[in-house]
Amino acid sequence: MKTLLNLITMEMEQAFQAAGYDAVYAKVTLSNRPDLCEYQCNGAMAAAKAYKKAPLMIAEDIVAHLQESQCLCSAEAVRPGFINLKVDPMFAAGFLNEMAQAENLGVEKEKEPKTVMLDYGGPNVAKPLHVGHLRSAIIGESIKRIIRFKGNRVIGDIHLGDWGYQMGLIITELEARKPQLPYFDEEFTGEYPKEPPFTIGELEEIYPTASAYAKEHEEYREKALHATYLLQSGHRGYRAIWQHIMNVSVSDLKKNYGILKVDFDLWKGEADVQKYIPEMVEMLKDKGFAHYDEGALVVDVAEESDNKAVPPCMILKSDGAALYDTTDLATLVEREELYSPDKIIYVVDKRQELHFVQVFRCAKKTGIVRPDVELKYLGFGTMNGKDGKPFKTREGGVMRLENLLREIEEEMLKKIMDNRTVDTEEARATAKIVGLAAVKYGDLSNQASKDYIFDVDRFTSFEGNTGPYILYTIVRIKSILNKYEESGNHAEGLLIREACKECEKALMLETAKFNEIIDTVYEEIAPHKLCAYIYDVANAFNKFYHETRILAEEDAQKKAGYIALLQLTQQVLETCIDLLGFEAPERM
Ligand code: ARG
Repeated sequence: MKTLLNLITMEMEQAFQAAGYDAVYAKVTLSNRPDLCEYQCNGAMAAAKAYKKAPLMIAEDIVAHLQESQCLCSAEAVRPGFINLKVDPMFAAGFLNEMAQAENLGVEKEKEPKTVMLDYGGPNVAKPLHVGHLRSAIIGESIKRIIRFKGNRVIGDIHLGDWGYQMGLIITELEARKPQLPYFDEEFTGEYPKEPPFTIGELEEIYPTASAYAKEHEEYREKALHATYLLQSGHRGYRAIWQHIMNVSVSDLKKNYGILKVDFDLWKGEADVQKYIPEMVEMLKDKGFAHYDEGALVVDVAEESDNKAVPPCMILKSDGAALYDTTDLATLVEREELYSPDKIIYVVDKRQELHFVQVFRCAKKTGIVRPDVELKYLGFGTMNGKDGKPFKTREGGVMRLENLLREIEEEMLKKIMDNRTVDTEEARATAKIVGLAAVKYGDLSNQASKDYIFDVDRFTSFEGNTGPYILYTIVRIKSILNKYEESGNHAEGLLIREACKECEKALMLETAKFNEIIDTVYEEIAPHKLCAYIYDVANAFNKFYHETRILAEEDAQKKAGYIALLQLTQQVLETCIDLLGFEAPERM
C-alpha cells in the first residue's frame, strides 16, 4: 500500500505537470507550521529560478489545479511561495480503512527478500550477564523484528564468547579446588561424570576469583594460559569441563534472555568456528595475503584514504594462538558456507569499531566473503548511571542484569500499587511486563550510537516519553473497547468516518503515517524513530481522549467511527511495541 505522503506527492506532481511545470519540484513534506497546515510543498520556490517567475505566481498556478483534488481539501499559496496543504477528511478515513484491511497494516514487504544475519547479544560464557550486554540484546532484538517484518529472512546469532582464556582460568581454578576430579587425572580413560562439578552460582564466582588471582600471580596466569592451550588442542578432560561450563552457562543465559524476551535463532559461538581456522590460515598464506610481522601472522588492511592508522588484522599470535580477529573471520567463513547471507549486521559496543573495520576489510580483501555481501557494524553507546559514568551497582560493582531488572520491577510494582486496586499477584505480573517495557523503551528511544543515562525514576514514570506511558495509553484504549463490547455492541467490521474535529483528525493523520515510518525505521535501522512515532501517536490519542466523550457519544454512527479509529490506533501501537520487543498488559 502506498504511503499517505506518496499519495499527496503524486497529486502534487499531477498539478505541477498540469500547470506546465516539471514534476520534480512537487516534493511534499510534513508541515513545519502545524497551526497552518498539515503538509506543505516548497517546490514553487525551487522552480522560480528555473522558470524565471515569481514563486508566488507559480504556487498560485499549482493551487488552481488542485481545486478538484480528492485527496486534499485545501491548498493555499502563501508568501513567498509556499503551498500549504490539508488532507481531505474523507480521503483520510478511506486511507485508514484500507490500512485496517491491508496485510501488515499497509507496510509493503520487500519485493526481493534478503537473507540478513544479525550478530547480537554476544555474552561471554561463564561470566555473569551484565548491563553492557543488555543494549546489544535489546537493540538487536528490535532490529531483527523490524527487518523480518519487512519480509526478509533474518537469522539472529548470539555469537557466544565461549573460547579462550576465561575457560583456561576456570579450569585452573577448578583444579586448584578439586584436584581429585577425574578431569585432571591424565591416566583416566573412563567416562566423565554427567553432572557438572559446579553450579551456575559457583561458576560465576570462580571466574572473577581466578581472573583477579591471575593478575597478581604470574605462575598461575601461565598455568591458565597453558590450560587454554591444552583445551584448544583437544585435551580430553578439559574438553569435558568446557562442555559442562557450556551446558550450565547456556541454560542460565537462555533463562535470562527469555526474561528479556530476546530470542536467538542460532546459539553459535567462537568455539564452533575453530574448525575453520587451519584451512583459512593456509588460504591466507597461500594467496599471499598474510605475512609474518615480529612472529605474528597478520594481514595488512590499511588504506590510502585512512586518516587514522588502521593496524593489520591479527591472524595468529607468535605462539600460534588464534585471536578475536581470527574467530570473527572464521565465523564469516562459516556464515558464507552455511547461510550465504546478503547482509550481516553486528550490534556491538561502539568501542569495538576498529576491530570491525579490520575484520571487514580483511574479509573483503581476501575473498572470505563475496564482494556483494554487505557487512554492517552498528556500534552502540554506553549505558551510564546518573553520574554520567558507566552504570554500576550502589556499591560500585558491575550491575548484573537480573538485579537491574529486579530493581526496575520493584519500582514499577510500587507505582502500580500506589495507583490502583488490583490484587498483589496481578500487580506483580503487570510490574514485570511494564518493567521490561520501561527498560527497553528507555534504551531504544535513544539513538543507538549515543551514550545514555539509565534513570530508573524517569524510565518508570507513567508520564512523558516512557515505556509505561505508551503501555498506559494502550491499556486505556483496550479498556474503552472492552466497555463498548460489554454494553452489547460489536466492534468488528466498523468503519472509520471522516473526522469532525481537529484532535480527531490529528490522531487519524498520525495513525496514517505508520507504513511510511516503518519504511524509514527499516531503511535507516533506527528503532529510536519508531519510539518517537509511537510517542506522537500516544499523545495524539490522549488529546483526542481528553477532548471527546467516546462511549457517551449519542450518535451511534459517530461512536462506531470512534471505535474503529481506536481499534486501528491500538493495532498500530501494539505492532510497534512488538517490533520494539515488548508487549502491553491487559490492565494497569
Ligand atoms: N563477546 C564479545 C564481548 O563481550 C562481543 C561479541 C560481538 N560479536 C562479534 N562477532 N565479535 O565483547
